[in-house]
Parts: sequence; C-alpha cells; structure tokens
Amino acid sequence: MSSSTTSLTPDQHKAQAAQKAVEYIQDGQILGLGTGSTVHHFLTALGTRVQDGLRIRGVPTSQATATYATQLGIPLLGHDEPWDIDVAVDGADQVDPQLNLIKGGGGALLREKIVARAAKQFIVIVDEAKQRPHLGLPFPLPVEILSFGWATTQRHLEKMGWPAPRREQTGSPFLTDNGHYIVDLHIPQIADPASFEATLLLLPGVVECGLFVHMTSLVITGTDQGVRLSQAPDKPTP
Ligand code: 5RP
Repeated sequence: MSSSTTSLTPDQHKAQAAQKAVEYIQDGQILGLGTGSTVHHFLTALGTRVQDGLRIRGVPTSQATATYATQLGIPLLGHDEPWDIDVAVDGADQVDPQLNLIKGGGGALLREKIVARAAKQFIVIVDEAKQRPHLGLPFPLPVEILSFGWATTQRHLEKMGWPAPRREQTGSPFLTDNGHYIVDLHIPQIADPASFEATLLLLPGVVECGLFVHMTSLVITGTDQGVRLSQAPDKPTP
C-alpha cells in the first residue's frame, strides 16, 4: 500500500489566501488594493466578482496594481480624493506572532502604509513561509529614502550596525513609484518593531520603512491544510 501526500506550492497558498479574502468584501465598499503577487490573485478574484455585479471602488497602492485593476474593470479612486477606506487588502514579506509585518519587497511600502493606515480594517494575505517567529533576516527591512543625499542617509543607517545596500534593478537604482530609492537593511532580529520604526523615521532622508506595527486586523494564511485565520484581538472583526 502506498500513501501519497500532496503539498501545494507557495503560489497556490497565496491564491488560497486571496480567494478567502474576497469573501470578506461587501457591496458598496471602498477597498485599499495592495501590491505584489498575492494581491494579483486577489485582484483576479475581485475582478470576477465585479464583473458579476459587485459594486466597489479601489485605491491602488502602485502603478502595477492600478494597471491590472483597470484591465479587470475595477473602478478606482483618484490620488487627490479624500479616501474613506473600509478594508485594505495587501500581502506581506514577513508576519510575526503579534501580526506585525515587514513589507516593501515590491517597493510599494510608502503608498501601502498610507492606504493601510487610512483603512478601517487591514487584511493581510500570505503564504505559510511568510510566518516568522520574529521580524528580520533572512528578509532585509526595506527603507524608502530620498535620492537627495542618499549616500549620507545610507551611511547613517549603516552606522546603526547593519549593511544597507541600495536596491538595484537591472544595473540601475530601483526607483519607487514616488521617485525615491530603497535601501534594504540587513538587520538580523527586530526585537521591538515599534521603537525601531520610530528611530528610523526620525532620520532625515528616510521617507518610510517597511515595518507595519499594530496595523493588521486579520491575517489569512494559505497552507496545505487550507486557510488559517489570525485575528488581532483589539481590532474590529472583518
Ligand atoms: C510590496 C509588498 C508586498 O506585499 C510583499 O512584497 C509581498 O509580495 P508577494 O505577495 O509578491 O509575496 O509589500 O511592496
């Protein structure tokens, strides 16, 4: 007799989490639309519901998300309108047991944080590998910095004790949708994410960092056994 176990790929875990998140979306809502491959699955599923008559409007956190959402017929709000976002849905690079996050692997952390902060509820969709006992390496912390004086800002960051290489893309500096650079801080373990975030944001030249502290309402994790829900104890229930 032979036994067989099937394990799903990380991308299938992402798709599972994304499908589950769409179940939380209700007619008439304003949605924050995150960025990345997990959100791509979410947008695909959301687009199907919109084509079936769901009436929502989205606030995209990147040009890539705006382009894909538009292709799917998802109506979008402009940058200049005041937003009253019901639910933001986004991926993450790491999630710790307190549901704090590292984000910014795709370089959209600044707009993602503005949109998540503006939302009444923030749903995070991830594959199982993103769950970590603490934030930090193996995923370096993205820090968005002004290009003006960037090497000086980078030097200040490195004086904290960890390498902070500027992110490159095909031999050129990676530029965010906001025209800024990103340095990826190779910090092994972020013991106190809230105070580390505050320290980073005090440094002139730092625009934002990829720590999302005490913002998450619900994490939906795709696993081989189905989706796992982790609800923040002190946030409104989606
Ligand atoms: C982009 C992000 C993404 O949400 C994060 O990098 C996760 O991406 P993916 O869903 O592709 O694994 O923060 O800035």
